[in-house]
Amino acid sequence: MSICQLKGVTKTYGSGPTSVRALRGVDLTIEAGEFAAICGPSGSGKTTLLNLLGCLDVQTSGVVEIAGTEIGALSARERARLRAEKIGFIFQTFNLIPVLSAAENVETALHLARTPGNRPAMAREMLAAVGLGDMVGRRPGQLSGGPQQRVAVARALVKRPALVIADEPTANLDSETGGRILDLMREMNQQLGATFLLSTHDTLVMSRVSRLLTMRDGVLTADERREGEDRAASGREDGDRAASGREGDDRDGRDTTTAEAP
Ligand SMILES: Nc1ncnc2c1ncn2[C@@H]1O[C@H](COP(=O)(O)OP(=O)(O)O)[C@@H](O)[C@H]1O
Ligand SMILES: [Mg+2]
Repeated sequence: MSICQLKGVTKTYGSGPTSVRALRGVDLTIEAGEFAAICGPSGSGKTTLLNLLGCLDVQTSGVVEIAGTEIGALSARERARLRAEKIGFIFQTFNLIPVLSAAENVETALHLARTPGNRPAMAREMLAAVGLGDMVGRRPGQLSGGPQQRVAVARALVKRPALVIADEPTANLDSETGGRILDLMREMNQQLGATFLLSTHDTLVMSRVSRLLTMRDGVLTADERREGEDRAASGREDGDRAASGREGDDRDGRDTTTAEAP
């Protein structure tokens, strides 16, 4: 089943002589359960593409379908609803709400998606799944980068979205912490069957996805699938970390002097 499909998609920002053709005709299908990444130089159009797939923006021409719905045919309100229900976002800068606890940040996604059930319990459960079971009461300022991005992963996944979009999710983390966040996303991909599309400059991410797309000047120039990449990865430099699993991967170097919030 395809989660999203782009056909001849273009995106031009502005008009006249100063306009920028950010996407120049992109065809792409992402299937359910994929763990894919887009790489390419800065300015090649990665964020523009992810924003279209995330219903944060609308294409100039072509067709964008998310979970069987053509988004060009939707009103802004309908697009927002589709985004709240079907798409999970993980940003480079985490984008957590500073005055809310980790649990409340995760719960917010359930409110927006109007997910029925015991939302506080669902949020706590998801935070436990990303290794933050004992930090649910902390606000973002009381967590270091790795745990903050874990909260963002929990927030993206708690509503069980059709597609998780992560725009350079490891760019603001040191390489070890970034590797752990990547492990976590891969684990969520395999355990929950969540479909991931990342953008990245990070060679570790590029080496560990099961499909690597390359973007250049607004077009996709390569589409490489690595079947059985897990086995292949064990021989690489990062294999030790992949093989060691979650051992020691509980805190991402949190500041233990920070008091636990009530
Ligand atoms: N809101 C915007 N208005 C005008 N130009 C933009 C806007 N967003 C991105 N661009 C331009 O579109 C091109 C693609 O940008 P972007 O999608 O951010 O690339 P990437 O994420 O690969 O760095 C760049 O030339 C960028 O300057
Ligand atoms: Mg970008």
